Amino acid sequence: MTKRIVVTGGAGYIGSHVCVELLSRGAALLVIDNLANSHPEAINRISELAPGDIRLIERDLANPAHKDDIVSAVREFHPDGAIHLAGLKAVGESVAEPAMYYRINLGATLTLVEALEAANARSLVFSSSATVYGDENANPVSETGRTAPANPYGRTKLFIEEMLKDIARADSRWRTVNLRYFNPVGAHPSGRIGEDPNGIPNNLFPFIAQVAVCKRKTLSVFGDDYPTRDGTGVRDYIHVCDLARGHAAALDYLDKQTTGCALDVNLGTGTGYSVLEAIAAFKRASNRDIPFSIAPRREGDVAEIYADADRAKKLFDWRADKSLEAMCADHWRWQSQNPDGYKS
Ligand code: UFG
Repeated sequence: MTKRIVVTGGAGYIGSHVCVELLSRGAALLVIDNLANSHPEAINRISELAPGDIRLIERDLANPAHKDDIVSAVREFHPDGAIHLAGLKAVGESVAEPAMYYRINLGATLTLVEALEAANARSLVFSSSATVYGDENANPVSETGRTAPANPYGRTKLFIEEMLKDIARADSRWRTVNLRYFNPVGAHPSGRIGEDPNGIPNNLFPFIAQVAVCKRKTLSVFGDDYPTRDGTGVRDYIHVCDLARGHAAALDYLDKQTTGCALDVNLGTGTGYSVLEAIAAFKRASNRDIPFSIAPRREGDVAEIYADADRAKKLFDWRADKSLEAMCADHWRWQSQNPDGYKS
């Protein structure tokens, strides 16, 4: 596999699992993270799980004052490629502060592209999202589905995808993959790294987990009148370790390309579960009560979305293996062993 990899956002939830996966395959890593939504302890835990060559530079890709440092560090590292996960990701905040989202998410990407150009390393795997799809696509949604993100956060993902395609089109030395994640959940089976949300979680799994550990009293189920099998929203939950393997597989694929490319690839399981099914599975895994009540629909939510995962299988020979039971058991192990995340 590609050996020297820059990982932006490597201290975050998905990034930390990607780092463990790559280190365990013998890669050397340069992590660029401003630690705005992550904790330095994550890097210690990564090293504990997968001892190897990892260095963190605490710099902000979106801050012009940090750009020279970043470009020099990347050049000196002599990377073979990069995985770009750094960025803002809160949907509600993006609606309130769209300019900040465009500035930070697009600006950070441009700085990384410049640093990789300077280092003569033009392989890039970008952390995109299934949120780029509109709500009119039939399920399972393939990469040719219509894109129409419902909020500025989702539009930053789509615009970055387009930017990378333009860059690859203009210079055939660039090889890029936009990985469209469905709903990443779970944690490393060791319970040492996992999702550590700031404040009240927006997403279903971290919320359920905090209810199970008694940090929150009750979960609101957003809508039970969708045209789905039990009326609640259906999503394609994917274990974060399967997702991390997908990044390694994408790098391996880019490594083998002899000409430029710019691809979109879904990372999902191909199976959807409803909110009520996810709650029931978490209850079984944790053996805890998960009190919930039905609340109004959340604005911008689609009824149902799950992936057509064939392209990843065909191109990367990758597929997700882990079950909903494993996602819940691993998420619960992390949450119960670290009730306050990395501060525990
Ligand atoms: N849900 C609840 N209660 C909650 C939180 C969520 O009922 O407290 C429901 C939602 O309505 C939805 C399902 O649980 O039906 C999943 O919601 P999440 O917030 O966990 O995930 P989303 O599918 O809304 O969004 C996720 C990521 C986004 C990403 C998107 C891509 O959070 O960052 O997937 O589709 F863009």
